[in-house]
Amino acid sequence: MAQTLEIQFLPLSAALAGTAVVLAGEELTLGSSTRGIDERAKGALTKAARAAGFTGKPRTAIEVLAPTGIDSQRVILAGAGRAPNELDRLRLGGLAFAQISARKAESASVVAEPADLGEASAEAFAADLALGALLRSYAFKKYRTRKGEENAESETADGLQKLLVHCAKPDAATKAFMSRKALADGVFLARDLINEPANMLGPVEFAERMRDISGAGLVVEVLDEEQLKALKMNALLAVGQGSARPSRVVVLQWQGSKSKRAKKLCFDGKGVCFDTGGISMKPAGGMEDMKGDMGGAACVAGLMLALAARKASVNAVGLIGLTENMPSGTAQRPGDIVTSMSGQTIEVLNTDAEGRLVLADVLWYAQDRFKPRLIVDLATLTGAIMVALGKEYAGLFSNDDRLAKEFDAAGEATGEKVWRMPLAKAYDKLIDSKNADMKNIGGRYGGAITAAQFLQRFIKDKGTPWVHIDIAGTAMDSARNEINQSWGSGWGVRLLDRLVADNYEKGDK
Ligand code: BES
Ligand code: MN
Ligand code: ZN
Repeated sequence: MAQTLEIQFLPLSAALAGTAVVLAGEELTLGSSTRGIDERAKGALTKAARAAGFTGKPRTAIEVLAPTGIDSQRVILAGAGRAPNELDRLRLGGLAFAQISARKAESASVVAEPADLGEASAEAFAADLALGALLRSYAFKKYRTRKGEENAESETADGLQKLLVHCAKPDAATKAFMSRKALADGVFLARDLINEPANMLGPVEFAERMRDISGAGLVVEVLDEEQLKALKMNALLAVGQGSARPSRVVVLQWQGSKSKRAKKLCFDGKGVCFDTGGISMKPAGGMEDMKGDMGGAACVAGLMLALAARKASVNAVGLIGLTENMPSGTAQRPGDIVTSMSGQTIEVLNTDAEGRLVLADVLWYAQDRFKPRLIVDLATLTGAIMVALGKEYAGLFSNDDRLAKEFDAAGEATGEKVWRMPLAKAYDKLIDSKNADMKNIGGRYGGAITAAQFLQRFIKDKGTPWVHIDIAGTAMDSARNEINQSWGSGWGVRLLDRLVADNYEKGDK
């Protein structure tokens, strides 16, 4: 993380910075201290709003320059709409940040005092707004040496260091912001890992980065190739055998539940640090994007950091399979048959369908060792999921209707939306093989589904609730929005955190 925006909560009465954002609800309704600002400015804000046809609708804003009677050189009126929900509040924070950033201000105030709080408390409103601004502020600039200069490819100015959030209950907001800051740390970790180029972040470096986050209270184990061989993770190892860089599996444990013996939630991530396709090589165009083929792993890492940093009341395990898929004299060949940790044999007909090989062993290991209450895997698994769903929704596959519904709700709440896809015997048949128990590709059609069917063959006990999320379309280069401007979006950290908070922490406090 290059530079993080500092956020401070202050009372509504505190002096405003040179650039100030104030909120207007639908039909230009103002909170009482915002009304006070308008009055001191002799009605300049409301007059300007009328002149501009600004009515407080979400995603709209106007700027009022040098209003008389107040210290700020500019006041930005931002539309808060009617009864904003949590996601609206984050987006509003993102809008506020973007408005400030576009003006290259070095310090700025946001008056988090809407006329209409919706269902939120004053402190939750301010804290959500701050989180939205923080998420929007992220930019990956680690390798740009001429930092201050204009660059058409990036939105954010380096200028804004500190954001002052004025609100009714600054102490309560400061406290409410702590768990949100933990979440943002998790999202930023995921974004950083995805954005990092593959020469800098291979399996070994990724694993080292996981040791660095153990300070948050996570127990971190790194399994090297010798240990992976002893565990018979041959499918995972086969993917990495063409690379000069060794494979790794990382296990991150968070024990936050009151009951040490409470069943664990397992989260598995595909961590292919670079996917050339191997001997079944990908075409050159766009191959650089395959530095993000560890998006599932990054999401799991970010989630585990967030859970630990906010001291979630849950026992959770993150399992990350790290490899690099390269063509070389030692690479696996199309037609090779490998015996996975489960004992099932796999005929590798396409070395570019490697993510499922990695996950087959990591999923098996997770169940074998932890006997989890549920298991979730995330993977940038198929181009086919983008053909089906584009870049707005991730594809969700599950053997459990209740868990799928919980994900649906968490997706709606966070804006990280999932769309359930089918699993069925007829699809499963497509990966039967003459020469082994299964092959690693189906036919021409339904590629995201046959990939999911493949993974399901590694869910041991059919009663274990399992979800697979194909994030090929959402983890990287997804549609930029109010709270994300980064190529690596960190998609899924907020979704999973919400799933855990809403369904697996209650009754454990
Ligand atoms: N990592 C890719 C999937 C991918 C593609 C993710 C584009 C993000 C953007 C995966 O390993 C892959 O290559 N899948 C193949 C499977 C095929 C060979 C059955 C694909 O989708 O083409
Ligand atoms: Mn591939
Ligand atoms: Zn891949």
